[in-house]
Amino acid sequence: MVAVLDFEDTGSGDEAVDLARRHLIQPWPTAGAIGAEARGLIGEGDGIYITDGKGRRLIDGPAGMWCINVGHRREELARAMYDQAMQLSYNTPWYTMNEPSAMLAQRLAAHAPGDLSHVFYTTGGSTAVETALRFMQFYNNARGQPEKKLILSRGGAYHGSTYLSASLNGRPRDRDWMDGADGLVVKLTAPNPFRRPAGMSVEAFCDFLVDEFRDAVRGIGAEKIGAFIAEPVQASGGVIVPPENYLKRVRELCRANDLLFISDEVVTAFGRLGHVFASGDVFGIEPDMITFAKGVTSGYFPLGGLMVSERLLEDLRRSNHPDAMFAHGLTYSSHPVGCAVALKNLDLLEGGILDHARKIAPYFQARLKTLEELPLVGEVRGMGLMACVECVADRESNDPLQLDRQVGSRIDAHCHELGLLVRPLINMCVMSPPLIITKDEIDDMVTILREGISRTMEDLRREGVWRG
Ligand SMILES: Cc1ncc(COP(=O)(O)O)c(C=O)c1O
Repeated sequence: MVAVLDFEDTGSGDEAVDLARRHLIQPWPTAGAIGAEARGLIGEGDGIYITDGKGRRLIDGPAGMWCINVGHRREELARAMYDQAMQLSYNTPWYTMNEPSAMLAQRLAAHAPGDLSHVFYTTGGSTAVETALRFMQFYNNARGQPEKKLILSRGGAYHGSTYLSASLNGRPRDRDWMDGADGLVVKLTAPNPFRRPAGMSVEAFCDFLVDEFRDAVRGIGAEKIGAFIAEPVQASGGVIVPPENYLKRVRELCRANDLLFISDEVVTAFGRLGHVFASGDVFGIEPDMITFAKGVTSGYFPLGGLMVSERLLEDLRRSNHPDAMFAHGLTYSSHPVGCAVALKNLDLLEGGILDHARKIAPYFQARLKTLEELPLVGEVRGMGLMACVECVADRESNDPLQLDRQVGSRIDAHCHELGLLVRPLINMCVMSPPLIITKDEIDDMVTILREGISRTMEDLRREGVWRG
């Protein structure tokens, strides 16, 4: 869900608002508003702040879309893009290569777990996931197992908006009106401890998830399944932190059954959980592939990529089909400007921002956790610098459905007045600020959020929607 904020009476930006209404189609529109809406105009960004069309300064709670990791207006990043564009603005990756892409690949490989030694660059997260899936198909064709193509995904997942990546998505409502490659995908239960069956411990829930995985592989047949894909922490599904050891146990099952484990780190990489990649450093797993995007350039340039294990490449090089072609590539694969800004972004992360993110994360989580004092809040959960405040109708049922479905947007609207941009998701608010946020700024953020939720509770009571 995207907040739709109208600024009909803005001073500056009026023309842009009018032009947007007449000519712009924005992501995730409804049929009734498509091509006829203007969302909140943002004019400027600086550090953790953005300025809206009315000149109001707001804390950028979601860091754009989980991506402005080192903050807005970093001169070093702007210069890196300018310098690279002046040196070499583009080269075809079909017949040539450039220096920044090779240097970045080497630095990413050094951070990646296990033997993930190579990078295929894309234009963002969806194309990274698409590349991983097409690579799995190619890999199994080349090694003589063309039947081994099904993909295991999970409820609550979000993996992108291209046809195949979107087919993996498991959030409610994403697929209501959209087609997908349904025959290729099998969905497992979301690893969401907050929504586990009543009376079940988290440990038993973990066993249930692992058993379900094992049963699915047995039932379908490992010879028909190519890969399992998982966000280590489901991001857009509401910051779902899986039970401890769940990822390790599923990783083992993948290894035992010859399924490729794709870790979708489009959100969790580049410092969001305190490390360049979270799969190894946070969760202790070595995937076969990792997809990344967003924070790799802190959102300054659309770049993504796929890290691939040396073992898979070696299998291909030794296969019986040395002429088989991985017919997959993008005009902007290995874009020199994107890779140059990613190198500078990595300098900033390694130069102190990762350390800062690791140090400040417990404070961020603890301060947000205090919001559980409010009766509308069912749970505050999170990890690193990503968190979710989930609102519920009542604590006994934890039922979000009885509640006004737009409760997240209501909270966002109040917070906007008070100086904070929130990412509303139905009955949830997701917070993932730039990693440079300080303790004082976290205090400001939580104070505003508390007030925004309190005002929403008053509105809901007044309207008779909620009696908490
Ligand atoms: C985990 C995950 N994978 C993939 C994507 C898709 O990335 P993009 O929007 O850059 O195509 C997203 C986007 O939010 C994401 O959160």
